Amino acid sequence: MAEQNPTQQPNQDPPVFKHLSLKTQHYLRQANQSKLEKEKEEASNMSSEQTFIAIKPDGVQRGLVGPIITRFEQRGYKLVAMKLVSPSKEHLEKHYEDLADKPFYKGLVTYMLSGPICAMVWEGREAVKTGRTLLGATNPMASAPGTIRGDYAIDVGRNVCHGSDAVESAKKEIDLWFKKEELMSYKPANFDWIYEKP
Ligand code: CDP
Ligand code: MG
Repeated sequence: MAEQNPTQQPNQDPPVFKHLSLKTQHYLRQANQSKLEKEKEEASNMSSEQTFIAIKPDGVQRGLVGPIITRFEQRGYKLVAMKLVSPSKEHLEKHYEDLADKPFYKGLVTYMLSGPICAMVWEGREAVKTGRTLLGATNPMASAPGTIRGDYAIDVGRNVCHGSDAVESAKKEIDLWFKKEELMSYKPANFDWIYEKP
């Protein structure tokens, strides 16, 4: 007899079903079906969160594009878009508009203008929050070893990478940096080895 995959539930009604009317059985099966579909949709939503990650000019100049991409790939995230760009001052001011009143804002924009930036979108469960964890704390001196900033940076003004800080800001940033058609939609070959089936 073929071994049953433990993640697959046998399609069997619970024993109590035989005491119920056909109409009730039908109703309960439908309710169960829509619950399963909802769970499936939730699972798919859980793996399709997107975050905007950028390798700043210092990261590109220091040859850190490969190592930074590797961290996201190895964790199991999916690369959805990537390009090397030299955005305008206006674009970078818009990207950091929330920080416009900070004393470091002017220097930050100059730093971001100092060379090409590798702009990316990564997708997967809790991509925004986990993306920030992979990056480490804003100030590399406070970043744990093993994080990107904790392994590759020292100064807060040269902290090699950017990551969206919330799902809403990720959406805004992805919109600012990428056209819709630049975002790829595909199922990675390793998907089923990373996510448990719902
Ligand atoms: O990048 P992150 O979201 O971690 O930090 P932020 O508070 O949004 O600040 C944006 C960027 O400004 C940082 O990544 C640093 O490059 C820079 N910054 C700085 O130069 N000096 C500070 N005291 C704080 C931030
Ligand atoms: Mg930020």
